[in-house]
Amino acid sequence: MTDLTGRTAIVTGGATLLAHGVVSALARAGARVVVADIDEEGGRAAEKLGDEVVFLRADVTDDGSVADLVAGTVDRFGGIDIVVNLAATYLDDGFATPRGDWLKALDVNVVSMVEVVRAAHPHLRASEHAAVVNFTSISSKVAQTGRWVYPASKAAIVSLTRSMAMDLAPDGIRVNSVSPGWTWSKIMDELSGGNREKTDAVAAPFHLTGRVGDGAEVGAVVAFLVSDAASVVTGADWAADGGYSALGPEGAVPAIPQLSE
Ligand SMILES: NC(=O)c1ccc[n+]([C@@H]2O[C@H](COP(=O)([O-])OP(=O)(O)OC[C@H]3O[C@@H](n4cnc5c(N)ncnc54)[C@H](O)[C@@H]3O)[C@@H](O)[C@H]2O)c1
Repeated sequence: MTDLTGRTAIVTGGATLLAHGVVSALARAGARVVVADIDEEGGRAAEKLGDEVVFLRADVTDDGSVADLVAGTVDRFGGIDIVVNLAATYLDDGFATPRGDWLKALDVNVVSMVEVVRAAHPHLRASEHAAVVNFTSISSKVAQTGRWVYPASKAAIVSLTRSMAMDLAPDGIRVNSVSPGWTWSKIMDELSGGNREKTDAVAAPFHLTGRVGDGAEVGAVVAFLVSDAASVVTGADWAADGGYSALGPEGAVPAIPQLSE
């Protein structure tokens, strides 16, 4: 049921570290994967993740580039069954964010998801197994200090996913989103100096699993969502967050005993 043999997937933003886990999971399940990104180096590295993983340079904010991506994918593999909208920007200066940056970030994070799916639509509609997964985040549901743009964009994606799922259902296209918690990624690698132990320790108090997730773990959820095993699932947001969203303000420590301390 989770076998993706013979299916073709586009993964936007597929060049980055977290996405490599997603690309690997899809390739391991048998899919042919097109990694679409503006990052050539990461894209070429992704090609090593499977025999049928190819990199096509594409800017998801450029309609011509998106059209070329779709044409290039169909040219190479004959169709499109799966779109994973993962490309994103963290461009965000909170309250100080100027209008231009708001529009740029919303273009990458939200509008481009629609444009990629619109361009791929004729091929998705022709597929017997069409599925879309949009990457949102735990940030869609909580405030994070200093961030206004990114959480708003991720909240918009949860809503967009429901709209897409409703209006594309008659075409046999399922659409879901995935909400990772803190996941080992390029930015964490850079900020921590490659220190996974330190990163896990910072994340531990607000993830029930006591650590950050791995791209491969998020990828396993994506592979499930685009497979026939999830044939009854559409319009849903799937937490892949190590229990982050199950925690309330009390955290996972006993609060009531503190009353009598
Ligand atoms: N890292 C985390 O802990 C975490 C947590 C929750 C959700 N997420 C989500 O997971 C996804 C990946 O996050 P990440 O931390 O790996 O991000 P990242 O910034 O490392 O990767 C984003 C990728 O998108 C690509 N990209 C940006 N603009 C593009 C454009 N115009 N056209 C094509 N590609 C473009 C980048 O080149 C990059 O490869 C994002 O959607 C993010 O919101 C990440």
